[in-house]
Amino acid sequence: ITVALLFGGRSSEHSISCATASGVLSAIDRERFDVIPIGVTRDGAFVLETDDAERFRLNPDALPSVEDNGSRVHFPVSAASREFTITRDGVTRSLGDVDIAFPILHGPFGEDGTIQGLFELTGLPYVGNGVLASALGMDKHFTKTVAEAAGIAVAPWVTITRTGWSDDRDGWRSRAGVIGLPAFVKPARAGSSVGVSRIDTWDELDAALEVAFAEDDKALVETGISGREIECGILGGRRGGVPRVSVAGEVVVSNGGFYDFAAKYLNTPGVDLVCPADLDDDVLAEMRRLAALAFEAIGGSGLARVDFFLTPTGFVLNEINTMPGFTPISMFPSCWLASGVSYPELITELIELGLE
Ligand code: DAL
Ligand code: MG
Repeated sequence: ITVALLFGGRSSEHSISCATASGVLSAIDRERFDVIPIGVTRDGAFVLETDDAERFRLNPDALPSVEDNGSRVHFPVSAASREFTITRDGVTRSLGDVDIAFPILHGPFGEDGTIQGLFELTGLPYVGNGVLASALGMDKHFTKTVAEAAGIAVAPWVTITRTGWSDDRDGWRSRAGVIGLPAFVKPARAGSSVGVSRIDTWDELDAALEVAFAEDDKALVETGISGREIECGILGGRRGGVPRVSVAGEVVVSNGGFYDFAAKYLNTPGVDLVCPADLDDDVLAEMRRLAALAFEAIGGSGLARVDFFLTPTGFVLNEINTMPGFTPISMFPSCWLASGVSYPELITELIELGLE
């Protein structure tokens, strides 16, 4: 089975995607799968990369990235073909037929339904969520809207667009002012906490929105929920059926900050991932029910990581990640490992689900 592994990409999570690809390249079952590593540069060029897990390993001092090596990989232009080609130095040759694409891409242009649309157009099977689920999961405003409609608790929020904000700052300040403090200001479509700020007074709103608008032209101001941060992994087939939900993992932050980019990838002290989390059986069962409900609410297939806050009044959904990171320190593979699925088995399973 030939797998086109796509990583890097045009989002602020470029390096995280490379780090996940490193993990997959090092663990994928080479007896069963031939891998074509396709890097996407920050500018959006598709290049043939080296099959080198070491080169893309997460390094807090020099985050990995895909560089433009001048090659250009081309997708089949018709649903009647699965042949990928490459042009280098003016010469085009075949890379052979691809059986499935594995887009380990996070953020816009990878996790938001756009590349999934390309796969659909060209009839190429792919790992993970389809167009709609990807688009819904990427956009925090719509994730929350759909989850709330399904009866899942979400933090109160106000969505502000860049143009709305520049046209009527006072109006939006007073609309956002009904949200409880501390609040989190987030770009609607980003990940890994890029562009996210915590504000403790409304004086900080303008600066926080500037930071968020650097990532997206739509931002959310959301009440900070205090509770345990509980996350879990989901595996589900493309044809539907009941999704499987892993045991719970917990993010334990003891340094007074929040689980931000540095804590996620730069090994900030005082942040630990605990898996399995210490939860009573009935609480775990409720988490599993809500995670599956959230996955179904966005029309999910393949995989997801669902993030909650566990408060005294129950679970509050934070977000759904339709292509969660699986760097060596990520929660998604940890949750599955604690549920009896090893990292290489998880990769095999994801590919098999995509081929269903
Ligand atoms: N957005 C990052 C990669 C995650 O959810 O794991
Ligand atoms: Mg995320």
